[in-house]
Amino acid sequence: MNSTPETMVEMRGVELMFSDKAVLDGVNFSVRAEEVLVIMGMSGSGKSTLLSLLMGLLEPNKGSIFFKKENLTQLSRAELNAVRMQIGMVYQNAALLSSLTVQQNIALPLEELSDKSREEIDTLVDQKLEMVGLKDIRNKLPSELSGGMQKRVGLARALAMDPKLVLFDEPSAGLDPINSKLIDDLIIRLRTEQKVTSIVVTHEMDNAFAVATRMAFLDGGKIVFDGTPEEFRHSRLPIIISFLSSFSNHRKSTP
Ligand SMILES: Nc1ncnc2c1ncn2[C@@H]1O[C@H](COP(=O)(O)OP(=O)(O)OP(=O)(O)O)[C@@H](O)[C@H]1O
Ligand SMILES: [Mg+2]
Repeated sequence: MNSTPETMVEMRGVELMFSDKAVLDGVNFSVRAEEVLVIMGMSGSGKSTLLSLLMGLLEPNKGSIFFKKENLTQLSRAELNAVRMQIGMVYQNAALLSSLTVQQNIALPLEELSDKSREEIDTLVDQKLEMVGLKDIRNKLPSELSGGMQKRVGLARALAMDPKLVLFDEPSAGLDPINSKLIDDLIIRLRTEQKVTSIVVTHEMDNAFAVATRMAFLDGGKIVFDGTPEEFRHSRLPIIISFLSSFSNHRKSTP
């Protein structure tokens, strides 16, 4: 009997250059089914780049990226699209199509990739909007929404296809504490109720500790820490000590 959950995602020796600069320089990690891996790191350390690689939106210069047993770098375009259908991505900047309404943005993947009827799609769109705490906005354009609302519509769109893996890029950035908590609860519920695996990139330590089953830290193009939240809290790595202390100092100085 094999009781270890399957590996959902794995990077082995991944390098990515932009111009002459190696942004990722030998990244290794894996995520098992039903984990919530929180990835932290300084601004510009390559977190969003890492998520783009997992979505197959960028190709690594070296190394392998696996989704389940499939090596993304060796798939045809059609095979890669089939993999992408199982992954939901919440972009750092929401990335909604500005000429489409909220309803049309969320329905787009369902219309293009599923054989669901108009009514089924409408019901699903409403369900996903409710999950992210939004209602009565389906006919609005993205420009009529606040940044935090756009972000949540992006999250509803990522969930439209009921993905097995969801990649969250700064899901709580720009949200008020109530909506930020709602997103944390949603990430936890996706894991416990729908067995969804998540990778969450965040700067917000409260959110990180609320949702993580495991934590990783990206620095100098490598994963320099990979362990439990408790191990992260007690890490002796200077970069993590200063990351954690700048956060608690910020808290002390915020009324
Ligand atoms: N398309 C691109 N072309 C060239 N350089 C890029 C591109 N995208 C990102 N970079 C560079 O790669 C590095 C990593 O960027 P990335 O957006 O992955 O950082 P990040 O860790 O997500 O930062 P933040 O916390 O600010 O979102 C940065 O130096 C950035 O300038
Ligand atoms: Mg980023």
